[in-house]
Amino acid sequence: MIRICPSILNANFADLPNEILKVAAVSDLLHLDVMDGVFVPNKTFSFEEARKIIDDSPLPVDAHLMIADADRTALNYLETKVSSITVHFEACSSPKELVRKIRGAGKRAGLAIKPDTPFSDIENLIEDLDMILIMTVEPGFGGQSFIDSMVPKIENARKWLDSKELGSTWLQVDGGINLETIKTARKAGADTFVAGSVVYKSDNPAAVITNLRKLANEE
Ligand code: DX5
Ligand code: ZN
Repeated sequence: MIRICPSILNANFADLPNEILKVAAVSDLLHLDVMDGVFVPNKTFSFEEARKIIDDSPLPVDAHLMIADADRTALNYLETKVSSITVHFEACSSPKELVRKIRGAGKRAGLAIKPDTPFSDIENLIEDLDMILIMTVEPGFGGQSFIDSMVPKIENARKWLDSKELGSTWLQVDGGINLETIKTARKAGADTFVAGSVVYKSDNPAAVITNLRKLANEE
């Protein structure tokens, strides 16, 4: 099963409800990039702003929290209507406890790794996860190019999940996904795709999503 999650990072922030409506009928989840200016050198939404987007979203929200001190700062999100909470392995000191708390609150728990973090660092946490997020760019900005050297990491994660019979754990990729790289990422074993600029730079965001899904399904 393929999931396409448009990221609103490159959408028009002045008209978000309308931007989200453009993709609502054809997307699986809305990917919400929360950046604090500390964990990454860019700032997007405060918790209150993020909560408003989550409350108003016609799609279930997949929150990607690029925020420092996640053991504490991510807890705010447990009380929201968010569907999935992904924290960065590099931003927490007790990732196992945090992902257990996320699951305990009835949310899907995701754990993200930056390009320089090896997959082996999170192997012992995977049984507590609903989703692994392999960053295919350095987190912080939309519009960057897919880092090809992440392909073996995706393959390795897929092999590992299959060997442990954890096929129901979603394997997400985020960064530089377009009509070409989605095929590469799918072939490597990803099943959940974030797409930002390719969607929102287009005149027809819904058509791009439909195309991305088709291409992923063909691989
Ligand atoms: C980057 C964000 C991504 C970003 C993807 O730190 O996590 O979700 O919006 O944008 P594109 O698809 O343009 O790389
Ligand atoms: Zn993201």
